[in-house]
Amino acid sequence: MQEELNKIKAEIFKELKNIKKEGEKISATIVNDLEIKILGRKGELSKILRGIKDLGQEKRKEFGKFANNIKQEITEEFQNVKTMLNFQKNEKKNFFDITLQGDYVNKGSLNPITLVQNDLENLFSTLGFMIVDGPELESDYFCFETMNIPKHHPARDMQDTFYVETDKLDLVMRPHTSSMEVRAMKVYGAPLRCVIPGRVFRNEATDACHEHTFNQIEGLMIDKNISISNFKAIIQEMISGIFNADVKTRLRPGYFPYVEPGFELDMSCTICNDSKNGCPTCKHSGWLELGGAGMVHPHVLKAGNIDPDKFSGFAFGFGLERLAMMRYGINDIRLFNSGNLKFLEQFR
Ligand code: DAH
Repeated sequence: MQEELNKIKAEIFKELKNIKKEGEKISATIVNDLEIKILGRKGELSKILRGIKDLGQEKRKEFGKFANNIKQEITEEFQNVKTMLNFQKNEKKNFFDITLQGDYVNKGSLNPITLVQNDLENLFSTLGFMIVDGPELESDYFCFETMNIPKHHPARDMQDTFYVETDKLDLVMRPHTSSMEVRAMKVYGAPLRCVIPGRVFRNEATDACHEHTFNQIEGLMIDKNISISNFKAIIQEMISGIFNADVKTRLRPGYFPYVEPGFELDMSCTICNDSKNGCPTCKHSGWLELGGAGMVHPHVLKAGNIDPDKFSGFAFGFGLERLAMMRYGINDIRLFNSGNLKFLEQFR
């Protein structure tokens, strides 16, 4: 029996030695299976140990001790091998190869319109303007009525408005952020400085310069003795904040029922910077129209519960897409909403 045990021990040590040599290539299950085969309840060693009880008392004592020692040795050796394998696996797991190429993380980017809007909001905040938000689905009253454009006024045709069919309310998808002017006046009163960025909608065919859904920023400054000079100063500040280049602006007379006098604001084309010959984007004029502006009409001030005899103010409304196009040299307005990642990823 002792011989048998010694044989088992020799065999198992030999096998474990091989396993050690193979090292991390050996999976843990091989070692576990082997352990069960030898030390498990029905294992080879257990079988022999069970036979001890049938021996005579003397022999049982002597052999029992021997057998237990062998079992102990084998168990320890299994433990050693398992610890070694685990250690090697952990070593491998913890190993960090700094020369490996990193994982590519797909990072999102902000739409250029958002970038321009954020900059404008920061800029106007530093000039003491509030940032105000308002509804895109708006009443006819705030879009037109309060803006000195009564029903059947020809100025209603200045934009192609999306009218919404409802039973009771006169609702439209706001065609301009000017709809927020009287709302802001009613809530905050005078003096008032605010800008209202937001989405606007027009029933228009799209092309490189026109979209049915686009963004504007409306501005309103009402106080005592506000004049066109204040407007010009603020606008020059805005333009030089958005464009680092030396960009020029000019005012042309323009008609909007909610201002008197009214102007159109142009900026020099940053795509060609050529006031003589221009380029296709500026229709060869060297100038690009940013939007409208003017001194707020007394009727509008009254609609906002502000006394036109005490207060005056200017208002403006510019297209954010236009500003972004000029800032980044983008020649097609449709790119902003295209979802084209190659385009969008350029703006980080
Ligand atoms: N609402 C005009 C438009 O969408 C732009 C505009 C013109 C806004 C004159 C104003 C303004 O505040 O005074 O084309």
